[in-house]
Amino acid sequence: MRRYLVAGNWKMNLGPAAGRELAAGVSDRLRGRVLRGDVLVCPPYVTIPAVAAVADGNPVLLGAQNCGDQDSGAFTGEVGPSMLKEAGAQYVIIAHSERRQYQREDDELFVRKINLVHACGLKAIFCYGELLGERKAGRERDVVRAQLEGVLPKLQYADPYNTVLAYEPVWAIGTGETATPEQAQEMHAWSREVVARLLGDGPAGNMRILYGGSCKASNARELFGQKDVDGGLIGGASLKVDDFVGIVEGAEAALG
Ligand code: PGA
Repeated sequence: MRRYLVAGNWKMNLGPAAGRELAAGVSDRLRGRVLRGDVLVCPPYVTIPAVAAVADGNPVLLGAQNCGDQDSGAFTGEVGPSMLKEAGAQYVIIAHSERRQYQREDDELFVRKINLVHACGLKAIFCYGELLGERKAGRERDVVRAQLEGVLPKLQYADPYNTVLAYEPVWAIGTGETATPEQAQEMHAWSREVVARLLGDGPAGNMRILYGGSCKASNARELFGQKDVDGGLIGGASLKVDDFVGIVEGAEAALG
């Protein structure tokens, strides 16, 4: 049985003061509850320590949105995974479509980053998904297979415990247009099939695959109720306490 993961990707929003307030709000609503999955927030680097300070019974895990491909040294502007770990992060998002698009990051870099994340004892959330034009051309399965094939076989330490996949169709990210539960399930099942071929049936069966792209409280339950959807990577709806907690409720309800 795979535990769900509801992960908030705050993107370039919320400095330390506002981030602390949001994290405290979410924590207050979830504290003391026995959740059947994991809840995570990924603030901007500078906000991580402020969120980490919301301690004492805070059930919300902490992650980063990116990291360098080296752990330390003369790499101006970069942040190494060990530093993130020291600051309280347990997860790092890698290969988000915005980094693929705006920073032109590629498979080779993703492999280096994920290997380093794992070597530092952190978990990676590896994002992938097709563009609108690729779906319109009926190429979504090929694109997703190539994205998984380009990275997973080159990972040194990947297992279902330290690696989470996040299928995020780019046409659904920040657009308000969500994949239907059927579309999500189809692509998740396909992803799992590809992972089975690359890593084996055991790892494929146990690896969590999140859905991302305009996920909100009103559609979370149905999406997460799909057999191969193990939670979500949430952008816009992770920025308000009610919206984000509503998605966690959706995950709990989907299991019930
Ligand atoms: P969204 O973003 O929920 O705002 O569509 C999801 C993501 O980019 O991870």
